[in-house]
Amino acid sequence: MSAGDTPHRFSDSEIAAVYRAIRERRDMRHFRPGPIAPETLMRLLDAAHLAPSVGFMQPWRFVRVTDTGLRAAIQALVEDERQRTARALGEREAEFLRLKVEGIRECGELLVVALMDGRERHVFGRRTLPEMDLASAACAIQNLWLAARAEGLGLGWVSLFDPEALARLLVMPAGSKPVAILCLGQVEAFYPRPMLEQERWASRQALGGLVFENRWNNAASTLFADDT
Ligand SMILES: Cc1cc2nc3c(=O)[nH]c(=O)nc-3n(C[C@H](O)[C@H](O)[C@H](O)COP(=O)(O)O)c2cc1C
Repeated sequence: MSAGDTPHRFSDSEIAAVYRAIRERRDMRHFRPGPIAPETLMRLLDAAHLAPSVGFMQPWRFVRVTDTGLRAAIQALVEDERQRTARALGEREAEFLRLKVEGIRECGELLVVALMDGRERHVFGRRTLPEMDLASAACAIQNLWLAARAEGLGLGWVSLFDPEALARLLVMPAGSKPVAILCLGQVEAFYPRPMLEQERWASRQALGGLVFENRWNNAASTLFADDT
């Protein structure tokens, strides 16, 4: 056994599949029309529900949107926020407006992920970092995202919305909060690179500049020897 190997290791092909899903997961905004089989949707929701959560509080709630009127109302909310975001961006307004930032109308399934109400009762791991509930919900979304990629389905995370307005549309209780609109569906092809990179909005930073050793901004030079 070489350094780093453990008896608990997956097989080489299983490991490759895990890394492939991570590498080839994309945020998708272009969808092919067509439904998702209910059993597939259930596998994806099960994957989300297996995520880690602070104090095992499982703060995630999923609202499946099947009503076409409600879907249109959600799309309108997002469009409103897209325009406000564009104005807030100042000199990048026109460039932003050219980007496709959601696929709500076209996707086969629309899900809203929300944080449950009554979260203040959960103190374990959240006394100094209450936002760990959101981190937990993000873990659930990432599980769903990776599982969807493995199933050949695209997912797009949309966060351009006023959470209070969306909560009203979904008749959510006080204290709960929607944190993501997920567009899930079949796709023609997965973007080979992040769409925002393809459209030259942003590019992936070099990892070596983001990993420090012992103190902030001190390069982890033994890990990134080639970069120095
Ligand atoms: C918390 C979160 C919120 C996001 N919100 C949006 C959004 O509102 N609209 C959008 O087009 N993409 C959104 N994205 C997707 C990012 O733009 C995307 O992850 C990033 O450009 C990298 O591309 P990739 O996911 O394909 O690697 C969001 C991603 C995350 C993690």
